[in-house]
Amino acid sequence: MNLTTTYLGLKLANPLVVGASPFCDAVHVARQLQDAGASAIVMRSLFEEQIDAEQRALHHHTESIADSNPEASSYLPPYAEYQLTPDHYLRQLEHLKQSLSIPVIGSLNGCRPGGWTDYARKFEAAGADAIELNLYTLVTDPARAGDDVEADMLETVRSVVKSVRIPVSVKLSPFHTSPANFAVAIEQVGAAGVVLYNRFYQPDINLEDLEVQPQLRLSDSGELLLRLRWLAIISPHLRGSLAVSGGVHSADDIIKALLAGAHTVQMVSVLLRHGPRILSGLLGRMTEWLTDHGYENLDQVRGAMNLQRCPDPAAFERANYIKILQSWRV
Ligand SMILES: Cc1cc2nc3c(=O)[nH]c(=O)nc-3n(C[C@H](O)[C@H](O)[C@H](O)COP(=O)(O)O)c2cc1C
Repeated sequence: MNLTTTYLGLKLANPLVVGASPFCDAVHVARQLQDAGASAIVMRSLFEEQIDAEQRALHHHTESIADSNPEASSYLPPYAEYQLTPDHYLRQLEHLKQSLSIPVIGSLNGCRPGGWTDYARKFEAAGADAIELNLYTLVTDPARAGDDVEADMLETVRSVVKSVRIPVSVKLSPFHTSPANFAVAIEQVGAAGVVLYNRFYQPDINLEDLEVQPQLRLSDSGELLLRLRWLAIISPHLRGSLAVSGGVHSADDIIKALLAGAHTVQMVSVLLRHGPRILSGLLGRMTEWLTDHGYENLDQVRGAMNLQRCPDPAAFERANYIKILQSWRV
């Protein structure tokens, strides 16, 4: 069985990629993931806020880094709480490149154009094979219209893409008015691929303390469904690469993502729960399914169930919503 796939122009041994997470913080852990079958690995993100704080502090020698962004400092983690300083990040990237044979993808996280995007060039110089730009944002200002937010995002992507020669993928949120249109626009400004989707961590309210509680719950396969729908809708319209992130936990999940149009699947929660060794089992079960169903390579599978090719395209569309609601009887 030929499991190779091309993602962002990189030839990968199989479609299983370790998504952005703490796994790259220790080189030996990243190597375990590689040995278990990961075909590429994405580092945790370096954040716009973190880089801005450092650049401002360097600019005003007298200002301490921790106090350099007074309006945001009450909300953002203190500088020392970020796991990797920008310098440390670049050094870790170099270590990973020296120790691993699989591609290493650096992750930048921000959504407004600015000096922080210079770090793309530093990632490239440190040896990154590609950059994943995470456009995570939460617009709480009712005066900001969607068009304005998206224009900033496109400008950010454009400035990262034009500063490097390595490929840039963009990790998107599902909460755009027209996700397919925005994915195409991202490609038009030069991105080599998109990652569907960011996972939003929803805070809860503690009824005893009347406090808002941030929480990080790992995903389950249920979260894949939103991604499958949009992969199926978007994949026929993109020439570049598509990765899915969110809810990939089993060989079945991987195969569904490929059928809907993904070139790679990114996994984090399943690896945090079960450790690197689960990867070899996933590869084995995936190969078994593909062989049993008469496939020889992933090109035959990819997109076979996208919106243009699946037997019932309406199942992905509004028609299905109406049918489902109408099907219930009491
Ligand atoms: C502990 C942890 C740290 C993460 N850190 C990052 C990060 O730095 N940048 C990023 O883009 N995504 C980050 N993510 C999100 C993952 O890359 C991924 O998109 C998300 O967990 C959904 O995939 P999953 O269902 O396989 O967990 C993190 C996730 C976890 C659980």
